[in-house]
Amino acid sequence: MLPEEIPAWRLLEETARGLAHLRGYREIRPALLEEVELFTRSVGEVTDIVQKEMFTLQKGESALALRPEGTAGIVRAYLEAGYASAAPLQRLFHIGPMFRYERPQKGRERMFTQFDVEVLGSLDARLDAEVIFLAAAFFESVAIKVKAPGFRIARGELEVRMNSMGDGDDRNTWKDAVRSFLAPTMAEHCELCRARFERNVLRVLDCKNPRCKELNAGAPAILEYLSAENRAHFERVQEYLRVLGLPVVIDSSIVRGLDYYTRTVFEVHAPALGARSALCGGGRYDHLIAELGGPDLGAVGFAVGFTSTLLLFNELKKIDPKETVFDEGPALVFVVSAGEGLESDVFRLAEDLRKNEISAVYDVEQRSLKAQMKLAGKGGHRYAVVVGGDELARGSVQLKDLEDGTQHELARVELVARLRAGGV
Ligand code: HAM
Repeated sequence: MLPEEIPAWRLLEETARGLAHLRGYREIRPALLEEVELFTRSVGEVTDIVQKEMFTLQKGESALALRPEGTAGIVRAYLEAGYASAAPLQRLFHIGPMFRYERPQKGRERMFTQFDVEVLGSLDARLDAEVIFLAAAFFESVAIKVKAPGFRIARGELEVRMNSMGDGDDRNTWKDAVRSFLAPTMAEHCELCRARFERNVLRVLDCKNPRCKELNAGAPAILEYLSAENRAHFERVQEYLRVLGLPVVIDSSIVRGLDYYTRTVFEVHAPALGARSALCGGGRYDHLIAELGGPDLGAVGFAVGFTSTLLLFNELKKIDPKETVFDEGPALVFVVSAGEGLESDVFRLAEDLRKNEISAVYDVEQRSLKAQMKLAGKGGHRYAVVVGGDELARGSVQLKDLEDGTQHELARVELVARLRAGGV
């Protein structure tokens, strides 16, 4: 990420942080390296992420992986910190890099940044609605904070799609139905699907192979199999989303690519991005804490991908994501020397300004006065402060406003106050 790109990244990060803090989420910074086993036990052994995309390294006895996602590491940290017994309800968030060995293409990178939000320790349906709303609020807030008056994400440019994965018996009945549906055409599926059919039939439904997708069309939907309890939970989530006024689309094709999900799953899509339209994905993972050695507490969360978010903003072409409130621009002052032997004076003056919270830079190439003034203008600095021998002797400097071209001599002691007041 080059300096030119940083304002856009800060926009995403600060927006995420601000929204999370407003809702009582605390920042957590989980490990970059985890034992491979953590991901095989959580994301699942028979998933694309674990089977194809994990960067792993073997050192002595340990098999380690660069984290491909954040949830598993956060649950591990939650358990090791003792939160499960001391303070089970934890609202946590994290912003940081994830690693997946995917074919690099538009919106897909091998190192990418996620805004990860997790609420651990409860089954309450309000929390599902809270995190779904937070994900949607994130995209709207980013749009608002971009320097483009009145820019909003219009209805239809983003779509929240939601489903339930059931849990326990209803999930097993559904899996059996999916298996019976797929069995007659299994021979026509790709090799990976055939292997997955035996070991984890739901992952057949994630296959991106066009032929497999055709064969998967019309597979039984979980919603027809949901137990009364899980259906009631799903309806409560929708009810709470109505309370907040957030429209969602129920989409039974959403099964997510990670094994830990139970009940609510959701994705935020930007149809403008075509095949890779998911900006965000998440859902409940009610047994993961137990599977990793803790008590059986519920949890729900999501992760937003920053790469796809920036792509969307470019695609909508209404704004330049680099033009954000976080674009701090060049240093306010360029300190210029009007003669030889003044290097130390220029150097000291620049540091004096910085001490007073005024950003300043200077030339290090011994350029002529004219060349330095040109450089200051080109650099986009607002002021040039010219240090000259005669002025030095009088205890003054020249202050030039590079925007309107006015220039005055003023006492050195007045310089800081004058710059702060914003004038020559
Ligand atoms: P995920 O759907 O695998 O979920 O990833 C979430 C988002 O990360 C995707 O929607 C996408 O925007 C972005 N993303 C994924 N892979 C890449 C990539 N290679 N390059 C760029 N962006 C990418 C999870 O990771 C879950 N841990 C989310 C979660 C949190 N569920 C519950 N809590």
